[in-house]
Amino acid sequence: MINSDPDPIPTTKHASTWCARPPEASTEDAAFEQFWTDAQKPKWADKSAASQRRLDWWRDAKFGMFVHWDPSSVAASEISWCKQFYDDNGERLLDNPRPTPGLHGIEEHRIWFDWFKPAVPREVYDYLHRSFYPGMFDADKFVATAKEAGMKYLVQVSKHHNGFCMWDTKFTKHNVMNTPFHRDILGEMARACEGAGMKFGIYYSQRDWHHPDYGPERMARYNEYLHAQIRELLENYPNISLIFFDCEQYYPWQMWDGKELFRMIHGLRADIVINDRCGVPSDFGTPEQWIGAFDLERDWESCMTFTGFWSWHGFQAPVIPFEECLRNLIQCAGRNGNLLMNVGPLPTGQIDPREVDRLRRVGAWLAANGESIYGTRAGPFPSGDYGVSTHRGNTIYVHVLQWPEGDLKFPRFQGRVTSARVLSGGKASVHQTDDGLTIFVALADRVEPDTIVALELAELKTSG
Ligand code: GLC
Repeated sequence: MINSDPDPIPTTKHASTWCARPPEASTEDAAFEQFWTDAQKPKWADKSAASQRRLDWWRDAKFGMFVHWDPSSVAASEISWCKQFYDDNGERLLDNPRPTPGLHGIEEHRIWFDWFKPAVPREVYDYLHRSFYPGMFDADKFVATAKEAGMKYLVQVSKHHNGFCMWDTKFTKHNVMNTPFHRDILGEMARACEGAGMKFGIYYSQRDWHHPDYGPERMARYNEYLHAQIRELLENYPNISLIFFDCEQYYPWQMWDGKELFRMIHGLRADIVINDRCGVPSDFGTPEQWIGAFDLERDWESCMTFTGFWSWHGFQAPVIPFEECLRNLIQCAGRNGNLLMNVGPLPTGQIDPREVDRLRRVGAWLAANGESIYGTRAGPFPSGDYGVSTHRGNTIYVHVLQWPEGDLKFPRFQGRVTSARVLSGGKASVHQTDDGLTIFVALADRVEPDTIVALELAELKTSG
């Protein structure tokens, strides 16, 4: 399964800051995307047959829900990152020396990014779990919302950087059973997913700002804890299908004994899909807060937020419009990736009703147009200013997000189109010459935000 050791030290700025957005300008975009594609492929991809097999359902699924939620939601600031480690009242935003493993030259972030704020004083942050009582939480309802959105999997934070565990773990008291709520929230969600036919995954942060052994002296002991927790999770919740580890990619695998960790996971469950944040070559890459590049070789999943924040930031934080969320999904599918759309539930246990609204509308769109997304692969036409294309069997779906001034033309296309239609109804005509393929749709038959032209081919030859 493991092909080679990744180079633990990044050689370029972007490789180390994978969460950086690509520059705005489109020519720079292309350069960045190319860079990113090249940087990821050789380093991180597990290309074994086992990896290809376990990715089957995940590649077809396309759309999942990310859930960033724990007692930090009570403070309506950013999960983990908002914690002010200094003993002051949170008003002096000095450098903030967070606990650091201090090994392999790695130090934690000290500066305060805007999205880490407002800072929550330590004496408040450390006791938030004592006020955590999400009385409106209903796992079945929660999962039903994901289902209504057309999502096929759900990935929930089991433990974020702050070390708080959202399941009934026997390895620390810092867990959800020691809140006034006394309920195994992760377990309830796992069971609800099982009941609803929804794949279930967990996010787990190796970084831990609560565990006393997380640091240079006792890292080996901390790793025993980490490995034991992952084993416990897999044994307690047998329907876990995916693990989303989380630490910057330049933390080398040695930090977590990552190879042994992967061996243990796949020894217990060979079919678990794992992301690329453990320093070990793995199943998929994770562009964060931006849409991945068109790439038919390296699997990826973009994780995106509704508000720019991962966890609940209050109703004053604007939520992106439905169209933006939908475009993100279409762009992911058409560049051969997945979209993991984040919700940051309220301390009440509810998903923000504004987010529910966006999700329902995406779900309604998928109910009508899902055949052009689920189970497809990107291409054969690369993404461009017009939009993207996907295909399944002998059908190509051209997603036109922006009509060009002149013709919509795809040069050098070899396939023979036998018929064309607009998926939402209406006529599409194609003109095919040796030069390529031109598509026409009358203004009246174009739909916002995406006109989907389905092309039937005599035979489709692609790599996907
Ligand atoms: C980053 C952030 C973290 C968030 C994650 C989601 O690693 O540090 O807060 O959970 O991205 O991908």
